[in-house]
Amino acid sequence: MIITTSDIQQTMREVTAGIGADRTFVLCDVNTRQKCLPRLVLSSRTSGFPGFSGQLISIPAGDDNKNIDTLTLVWRALSEQGATRHSLLINLGGGVVTDIGGFAAASFKRGIRYINIPTTLLAMVDAATGGKTGINFAGLKNEVGAFHQPEHVVLCAAFLASLDKENLLSGMAEMMKHILIGHDTDAVAQMETLADTLADFQASGARQDEVARLVRHSVGIKERIVAQDPTEKGIRKALNLGHTLGHAIESLLLEKHTPVLHGYAVAWGMIGELYLSHVQTGLGVDVLRGATRLLSELYGPCPIGCNDYDRLYALMLHDKKNTSADAVRFVLLAAPGDIRLDCTAPREMIFEALDFIRER
Ligand code: GLY
Repeated sequence: MIITTSDIQQTMREVTAGIGADRTFVLCDVNTRQKCLPRLVLSSRTSGFPGFSGQLISIPAGDDNKNIDTLTLVWRALSEQGATRHSLLINLGGGVVTDIGGFAAASFKRGIRYINIPTTLLAMVDAATGGKTGINFAGLKNEVGAFHQPEHVVLCAAFLASLDKENLLSGMAEMMKHILIGHDTDAVAQMETLADTLADFQASGARQDEVARLVRHSVGIKERIVAQDPTEKGIRKALNLGHTLGHAIESLLLEKHTPVLHGYAVAWGMIGELYLSHVQTGLGVDVLRGATRLLSELYGPCPIGCNDYDRLYALMLHDKKNTSADAVRFVLLAAPGDIRLDCTAPREMIFEALDFIRER
């Protein structure tokens, strides 16, 4: 169940009482241990939560640590501290913590229950919901993992207060995507309202309740899609809008040692894929103009040049999630909410889409 709360301690007392686990563990990274754990516990002690007992497992932060060594650390802590099949793991953090914690829960004693408490906007609206768990392996992102649904995802907008503008924008890109795939009317107006609300929140902390409502609404769009297709055989692929071009841009910039936050790459990818939607599946010019103007204003110019196109195309071809034989696949829109899966585009048209991204 997805729960929105402004009183995280009370909510956690209620949900853990409902689960009735024999032992409860909280997984944090070094950042969320310092910045977020104090919202969950009454004191700085590492165990003894108000109303329920819990043991803390702390892991290093960052995507570089989303690996088998960190996973082993979590397994070992669970094992040495007496976790059983009836224990509960609470993951408190961004996508790295919820992905590793979810996979530890999927695999420890063949599966224990877990709760995600995402602390970044990106994790709230994407990683923490839907049951995708895993680690990076052999240089490949999310190469090893499992589908394992959390018992609950607890959304608390107060955690967003400590996020900087770039991280809020990064999460907002996935919310923009949810608007485009989930709304058949007023999509561009809704994207503008979202941008205005988050800008006010970022500037002054105002409108937190409105942010909480928009986050819950956004997660609801993903939740409904995942409920229809939990293991991504069909409609769940819609959640990859913007990600074929976006992942290639993200990987290229990482190779060049100028990494960008995931949501920025997705926003630029969406600009290109909305262009492809216009030429391939008839997306109206008003939506194309309105959505791409807003995304360009928010995320700025995409730092790629025409010399990068061949490498970007190769990266797309190597992304096995987006390829069939030798064709690159996209999720496109005939209109907002009118999704076309498994679309292909010739190389020249993909290069046109890259031109379109650069010209914004
Ligand atoms: N991040 C897309 C999905 O969960 O399917």
